[in-house]
Amino acid sequence: MVNLHTSIGSFQFNNVLMNASGVHCMTAAELDEVAQSPAGTLVTKSGTLQPRDGNPAPRYASLELGSINSMGLPNKGFRYYLDYAIAFQAAHPDRPIFLSIAGTGPADYAEMAAVIQASDFTGLTEFNLSCPNVPGKPQIAYDLTTTEHILDDLFKVFKKPAGIKLPPFFDLAQFDAMAALLNRYPLTFINSINSLGNGLAIDAATDTALILPKGGFGGIGGAYAKPIALANVRAFRQRLRDDIAIIGTGGVTTGRDVYELILCGASLVSLGTVLQEEGLPAFTRLTQELEAEMTAKGYATIQDFQGQLKTL
Ligand code: SIN
Repeated sequence: MVNLHTSIGSFQFNNVLMNASGVHCMTAAELDEVAQSPAGTLVTKSGTLQPRDGNPAPRYASLELGSINSMGLPNKGFRYYLDYAIAFQAAHPDRPIFLSIAGTGPADYAEMAAVIQASDFTGLTEFNLSCPNVPGKPQIAYDLTTTEHILDDLFKVFKKPAGIKLPPFFDLAQFDAMAALLNRYPLTFINSINSLGNGLAIDAATDTALILPKGGFGGIGGAYAKPIALANVRAFRQRLRDDIAIIGTGGVTTGRDVYELILCGASLVSLGTVLQEEGLPAFTRLTQELEAEMTAKGYATIQDFQGQLKTL
């Protein structure tokens, strides 16, 4: 009998699967639906200080092996999601929930963190430092100095369980530098990776970019992202303190993909494009496929193979 129980810090989850922030989590109704699915936990859309409409449509397109999006952080404002999360934990005291927030400038993070700190929220807060889709705003975590300033300011006021959502990195020197920085802070988790930023997809019939914002540039998700996600989870697992857990995000289309992210060190695995494309039944399918993969390999628990990647 396979058991998909996992943990992050002192938080316990009965399934390793969750939604990725941005998918099926804009409204309380969508969040409720994820909560009622087989997912082990859920995360809100990244909330900003003020509600945002996001970028003009079309801002999402399906691709042969995934998706491209430039949503631009449409959301109902972080207070909406904070209120939801507090109500959720009151109704489900045994089901920890993730609150995601994103700044549109560095100072926003500490400002929102202070509000969350003063609130009744007792779950996990994900600080998104990696949105590639706000015109004129670079992905913060590609700038180590700005990231350091944000984390310094943040942890002066924030004492609750915290993590950060990272963009993909592509060079071992980047992994070394970012991990050395992150290891200095009281982080409970990281989430790796956000979409592959600023890809471009073209409609062959019209020679036109598929999405409107930013001249067609957008974050790439789905199968395209799998090798990069595996490498990022693996590289950070090798470099981060043992007490910083990793949520693996990116490239999941099968239970085998979930298994491989765990093999690289993930404690939870979040579903982005596959959840957008298939809807909530993706949780049931991927749970069954992961269980079948674990059974075939002779594993009964996540801990039996977590981080156990072999190399030649
Ligand atoms: C978006 O809203 O543009 C996506 C959010 C993200 O990639 O962090």
